Amino acid sequence: MSRVAIVTGGTRGIGEAISLALQEMGYTVAANYGGNEEKAKAFTDKTGIATFKWDVGDHQACLDGCAAVAQALGPIDIVVNNAGITRDGVLAKMSFDDWNEVMRINLGGCFNMSKATFGGMRERGWGRIVNIGSINGQAGQYGQVNYAAAKSGIHGFTKALAQEGAKSGITVNAIAPGYIDTDMVAAVPAAVLEKIVAKIPVGRLGQASEIARGVAFLCSEEGGFVTGSTLSINGGQHMY
Ligand code: CAA
Repeated sequence: MSRVAIVTGGTRGIGEAISLALQEMGYTVAANYGGNEEKAKAFTDKTGIATFKWDVGDHQACLDGCAAVAQALGPIDIVVNNAGITRDGVLAKMSFDDWNEVMRINLGGCFNMSKATFGGMRERGWGRIVNIGSINGQAGQYGQVNYAAAKSGIHGFTKALAQEGAKSGITVNAIAPGYIDTDMVAAVPAAVLEKIVAKIPVGRLGQASEIARGVAFLCSEEGGFVTGSTLSINGGQHMY
């Protein structure tokens, strides 16, 4: 029986590419999504990958959702915490709700999903957790105190949980994508984005599939000696 992987935010953008890459490796994939039913249905029709709807920022929903995935597909050995949102704005204009939602979903989601799956991985003596951080969690970004704090938190979370999982065959790593050609980046005002791309040494946005290749390696059997690391995939924009 193939191992079961869950990818949060797994039907769109970087998450979609990750779901496909893990499926290609022979894993049984479940793609979690938060809201876009139409996109999720089109994704399943195209890929055959089962989708499961819940809010990763909701602790109980993650416990129930992961139980439903395990019931349908088998015990979860691989978790990719990819779901994330932006609520950009300078601090002076940022509401508490904008702060809280980004922390709740982007960082809280990693805690909730790990709580729901880590115990089972430990019992079975094998697991892979990959958390999608960001260049903006490493370097900061004007207008993103919420997002940068949450993503930076993900990098700390990764290193702490890696220490707890190591003796049980569980690796925990992060990927820090740069600016990738997705809807999230397309929402950045064009004039701002142009200036950002001008600072990327390779001279272009990244592709979602270029992040997915990194995730696939970290989720492989061969990745077992890599833990607590952050793989930066950013076209040289931030050499960290
Ligand atoms: N550094 C210094 N000053 C900056 C700046 C920067 N990077 N960006 C903007 N400013 C300045 C502007 O020049 C302007 O100055 P003046 O008032 O003196 O002219 C002032 O800040 C206000 O700028 P805006 O007109 O852009 O202000 P706004 O309130 O309309 O918008 C913003 C602010 C929402 C932050 C907007 O600039 C923005 O969307 N920036 C992009 C943020 C970003 O990169 N988000 C990444 C999203 S993708 C992602 O997060 C994925 C990932 O992991 C990489």
